[in-house]
Amino acid sequence: MKTWNKLAMILILLLLAGCTSAVVPEPADDNTVRIGILQMMTHGSLDEARQGFLDGLDEAGYVKGKNLIIDFQNPEGDQSNMATMADHLIAEDLDLILAIATPPAQQLFTVNQNTPILGTAITDYADAGLVDSNEHPGGLISGTSDNCPMDAQLDLLLSVKPDIKTLGILYTSSEVNSEIQANQMEAECQKRGIEVRTVTIPDKTVINDAMAALAADCDAVYIPTDNNIASAMGSVDVISRERNLITLVGVSDMVKNGGCLSLGVNYYDLGKQTAEMAVRVLNGEDIGTMPIGYDKSGTVYYNSDTLEAIGIQLTDEFKASAIDMRN
Ligand code: TRP
Repeated sequence: MKTWNKLAMILILLLLAGCTSAVVPEPADDNTVRIGILQMMTHGSLDEARQGFLDGLDEAGYVKGKNLIIDFQNPEGDQSNMATMADHLIAEDLDLILAIATPPAQQLFTVNQNTPILGTAITDYADAGLVDSNEHPGGLISGTSDNCPMDAQLDLLLSVKPDIKTLGILYTSSEVNSEIQANQMEAECQKRGIEVRTVTIPDKTVINDAMAALAADCDAVYIPTDNNIASAMGSVDVISRERNLITLVGVSDMVKNGGCLSLGVNYYDLGKQTAEMAVRVLNGEDIGTMPIGYDKSGTVYYNSDTLEAIGIQLTDEFKASAIDMRN
């Protein structure tokens, strides 16, 4: 009997020990870094930028589950959820927050108290009102930009279709990132005597109508890195094929999903470059003195399937220096 009692006691003690260790978390390692991520929505370029950032941190010795905690938030484009998530991340008092795309960066900016915020995949920090200037941000935000020179983008389109008289521009009215690029493209067209017809849309339900309207009087359509349209490229693809309308789009992922051409950055590399900036911030460098970073190695992407469907032939020389994104 005594032995049974002893055994029972030991069992109870063991169980209690098990329970206590389950409810009381290990004291957090002082060196553990806590980073929040607010990503506008799931789509190719933004996912790649996040992966590059996480891999870059990992390579620098910040390893998830060891000395790094990531609080990842993704509102899938919903503005009100994005606001709630931004509030949550700011309240957490994290070591750093990564904002992926312009709208989340703007949301965090409005509620931020004292957390350093890095952005990535952001078109223009200064134009979006996030920094004093891209060279000297001056506040709590810096990061990397996916801006690609507009003259080179237009050159690319004209190299494939030289006889463009009217260029259509399509973007979502609420996205400043798109508006910035649309204005740059318009200025570039003016210089070269190309007419511009701009159509803005409130949401993706009207992409078909907008594309059809542009097809009626334009020789080509430019769509910038517009988060909303990037997530609905199927409609662009359909009208482009139906109306033999060539498209120049902001990024490779939009080419993959039915766009024709793009001169764009590598988002994975951009994310990695952002991780290098994160390491500097974590080491105590003042984020306000860190200039916005760029990916200088613009790459040409094309979709041979879409281009063939609308009857455009590419030279072998062109193909040799570009990447085919056909599925
Ligand atoms: N540059 C966009 C912004 O500032 C985000 C973005 C990156 C994007 N890659 C994209 C949007 C591709 C659409 C498609 O918000």
